Amino acid sequence: MRFTDKIAIVTGAASGIGAATAKRLASEGASVVLVDLSTSALPEGDTHLALTCDIADEAAVETLVAQVVDKYGRIDILCNNAGVICSAAPITEIDSSDWQKVMGVNLFGCAHFIKHVGRIMIAQKSGAIVNTASVAGIRSGAGGNIYSASKAGVINLTKTSACDLGGYGIRVNAVCPGLIETGMTKPVFDYARGKGITERLGERCELRRYGNPSEIAAAIAFLASDDASYITGQALAVDGGNTASLNLPGMKY
Ligand SMILES: NC(=O)c1ccc[n+]([C@@H]2O[C@H](COP(=O)([O-])OP(=O)(O)OC[C@H]3O[C@@H](n4cnc5c(N)ncnc54)[C@H](O)[C@@H]3O)[C@@H](O)[C@H]2O)c1
Repeated sequence: MRFTDKIAIVTGAASGIGAATAKRLASEGASVVLVDLSTSALPEGDTHLALTCDIADEAAVETLVAQVVDKYGRIDILCNNAGVICSAAPITEIDSSDWQKVMGVNLFGCAHFIKHVGRIMIAQKSGAIVNTASVAGIRSGAGGNIYSASKAGVINLTKTSACDLGGYGIRVNAVCPGLIETGMTKPVFDYARGKGITERLGERCELRRYGNPSEIAAAIAFLASDDASYITGQALAVDGGNTASLNLPGMKY
């Protein structure tokens, strides 16, 4: 029960990693504000408030944060998790509308929340922020150019925000998930299942398997909790060892 009496916001809470994170925080005592594009998929309950917001829209984020403060009076934890992907294309073929869309949600959406929740946390002189980046932000080769660049941006935003906010006792960290079965990766899993090759999806991980949302939620909960009280500005890969090795074909014994 690490989050008793804590107020937490989780974005992208209707699906995948966000839903698992909201569940994990609530199971440890938090009152969770669930945020997504539509509230229809969001459960409401004693420990939940479900709010609609397009995180790419700064004015909408500002309004949402004010609503949360009106209701609860404080914000202890922010999980900046909502994200989108677009079809991968060579750098010479990318449409600028795809850049706007993916950066608008993945990077700017994250920044909007850090800005407006950060102001509340500064006044409180406490808070923990956990951003969901990706292994794609560490290496290329997953999700395409734009997605990778947006997640590299989230990793750096994590570090710069940690420097800006550390003096107020606010910690900012990121998780970098490897391949996880969620709404975002459904087409990949559907394709692999159709071909009977699902086990191959985890082949490049040292643990030889892909991950599940609850394993990312556990890492997010750790970084959001006082167990991580001396950790800030870090991007933790939660990827079954995927980024621990270059995994070059033919270079293993
Ligand atoms: N699934 C993976 O393998 C994987 C790996 C690395 C990182 N991630 C990251 O994890 C995070 C969660 O993704 P997921 O895999 O659970 O995907 P998902 O598609 O299952 O969930 C993402 C949620 O974000 C919401 N969302 C999208 N745009 C939004 C917006 N503008 N405003 C508010 N909500 C919005 C969606 O409606 C959805 O409910 C994302 O940031 C994603 O980039 C996922």
